[in-house]
Amino acid sequence: MAIRLGDTAPDFTAETTEGTIHFHEYLGDSWGVLFSHPKDFTPVCTTELGAFSKAKAEFDKRDTKLIGLSVDDVTSHNKWAGDIEETQGEALNFPLIGDEDRKVAELYDMIHPNADNTLTVRSVFIIGPDKKVKLTLTYPASTGRNVDEVLRVLDSLQLTADYKVATPVNWKEGEDVIIVPAVSDEEAKERFPKGFKALKPYLRVTPQPNL
Ligand code: BEZ
Repeated sequence: MAIRLGDTAPDFTAETTEGTIHFHEYLGDSWGVLFSHPKDFTPVCTTELGAFSKAKAEFDKRDTKLIGLSVDDVTSHNKWAGDIEETQGEALNFPLIGDEDRKVAELYDMIHPNADNTLTVRSVFIIGPDKKVKLTLTYPASTGRNVDEVLRVLDSLQLTADYKVATPVNWKEGEDVIIVPAVSDEEAKERFPKGFKALKPYLRVTPQPNL
């Protein structure tokens, strides 16, 4: 069954390039990004795993654990890791699940039979410290993901978890945010001491509150 926002991220135990992982235990109290790769030794996936590894420090800063998946076994992943380091200039530095029986791929509905019967699509799940799914993204095998977009969404999710705000189109860390409509003007004056501009009664903009 499809996984929807607000669902509890299904737990599982799997072999990975960093040993056996119990997913919820691995996440602990951190945020998590689980993302699937159609197959080992494929070109787009090779670039993605290099790019996510290069950005690992940015995910650490956001208290976020990365975990990838590909529907081949860990022996194959370990061989592929050599190619990733050689061609992308960065070693794989987070666990990659060996999912040759497609157990986790099926649990997370990562195989879309009308796209491909056996390979996964490029799924991304962002999971909060409460183990609830906060974001899902689905790309076709032919389109590599954008690491900056995953980081940008994490910034928005982490901000909006703590403040009664939403982030506007193309928002990036440091830019003004929107006060959610459920907050009255009176409450907004208390909650947002830097002030706000009301472009419309429902469109009120305030500086990012945690800076
Ligand atoms: C790739 O990662 O390059 C890829 C994987 C499966 C199908 C097409 C491309």
